[in-house]
Amino acid sequence: MEREKFSSRLGFILISAGCAIGLGNVWRFPYIVGKYGGAAFVLIYLAFLLVLGLPIVVMEFAVGRASKKSAALSFDLLEPKGSKWHLTKYIAMAGNYMLMMFYTTVAGWMLLYFFKMLRGDFNGLDSAGTAEEFSKMLVDPVIMTVFMVVIVLVCFTICAQGLVSGVERITKIMMLLLFLLMVVLAVHSVLLEGGAPGLEFYLKPDFGKMKEAGLGEAIFAAMGQSFFTLSIGIGALAIFGSYIGKEKRLTGEAISITLLDTSVAFMSGLIIFPACFAYGIEPTSGPSLIFITLPNVFNHMAGGQLWGALFFVFMTFAALSTVIAVFQNIISFATDLTGCSVKKAVFWNVIVIILLSMPCVLGFNVLSGIQPLGPGTTIQDLEDFIVSNNLLPIGSVLYLLFCTSRYGWGFKNFVNEANEGEGIAFPTWARVYVSYILPLIVLFILIEGYIG
Ligand code: PHE
Repeated sequence: MEREKFSSRLGFILISAGCAIGLGNVWRFPYIVGKYGGAAFVLIYLAFLLVLGLPIVVMEFAVGRASKKSAALSFDLLEPKGSKWHLTKYIAMAGNYMLMMFYTTVAGWMLLYFFKMLRGDFNGLDSAGTAEEFSKMLVDPVIMTVFMVVIVLVCFTICAQGLVSGVERITKIMMLLLFLLMVVLAVHSVLLEGGAPGLEFYLKPDFGKMKEAGLGEAIFAAMGQSFFTLSIGIGALAIFGSYIGKEKRLTGEAISITLLDTSVAFMSGLIIFPACFAYGIEPTSGPSLIFITLPNVFNHMAGGQLWGALFFVFMTFAALSTVIAVFQNIISFATDLTGCSVKKAVFWNVIVIILLSMPCVLGFNVLSGIQPLGPGTTIQDLEDFIVSNNLLPIGSVLYLLFCTSRYGWGFKNFVNEANEGEGIAFPTWARVYVSYILPLIVLFILIEGYIG
């Protein structure tokens, strides 16, 4: 059977961007920046996107496009006979499942916040009040479970309809609307009275501040965030590479996606930090940051209730497009590995993902006694740490070595694949860098982060 293809190149770019752009940009990015001291962290993060992330995006696309398979079979297909690269699939699978274990919950928060905005739950509340609204949600396992389950069901339903008709069409519209609204909100925030110190915090590097948070740890976190936001290391992008034709070189596509992704993250910082300072909210608030900051922003805006509802609905869509992408991957794992039908894969994974998402939900209430990474931390923190600081970097190194080592797929095969078509070529002068220096940097940061 002919493998399904995207109906257009724009569709491919937007759907890969849809996978990359998600909670990582709007929820995770601001709170991690806040935690690690602001602009200095942003600088390191941007550097990592370029020197570490971008080449790996190209490699994932190349592996996907050459094999036309998900990570469940791509290595089996491309590896030299007798080698063990195909074991990478287990890291990819663990990564995709583990990511969903907390992502569905946060996506549920977004959806819930849409309804709360619509209902006017935040009207007239100050910063303390919006913080309390968030805490009230966290202690209610039922409401969080309901919204998490809705997210899972909606996304699997869309996936069950097939790639082009379902996923591509819906994602395109949603991403464009989100983009527009964020530009409006960023302009509004930048002009906010009392917001200037927030801009300074976000844009004027102060390495002293970062040292307070711990330099090694901050660098480790910057790498984690850059890999997280690009969705690299677990075959989540590779799967989209498997659906495209050979018309375009892959480096140009990777650059477009990185730019789109980065501009959304950058804008969400522009929205959040001036607002934090204007309304007296600590940038170090952690995962609750955008949920307590944004209602304040909307409370002080003309027509804020409507803008707020729109924001959270688009944000829900951004999260959905990521979840859909990852589900698409999870379904392909199942169909590629077992040969079962899409319907069957969907059915079983709905159950599995809902069950796996429960520890995160319960970690904020019933199981809040479990604080795996130190006092005040949650099960969500642990799952996030395993994905962002372990599975993504390790998976990325494996993709890197696979594409550069002569014991793997090899640099020649990789470059030939990446450079097929028109557009920007992958520079062959970068060979030494991607083969030796890049993997060593990632491993070094990983080990250093652990010692720290
Ligand atoms: N990049 C996604 C986001 O920013 C998260 C993600 C990570 C998706 C890894 C797939 C793989 O929300």
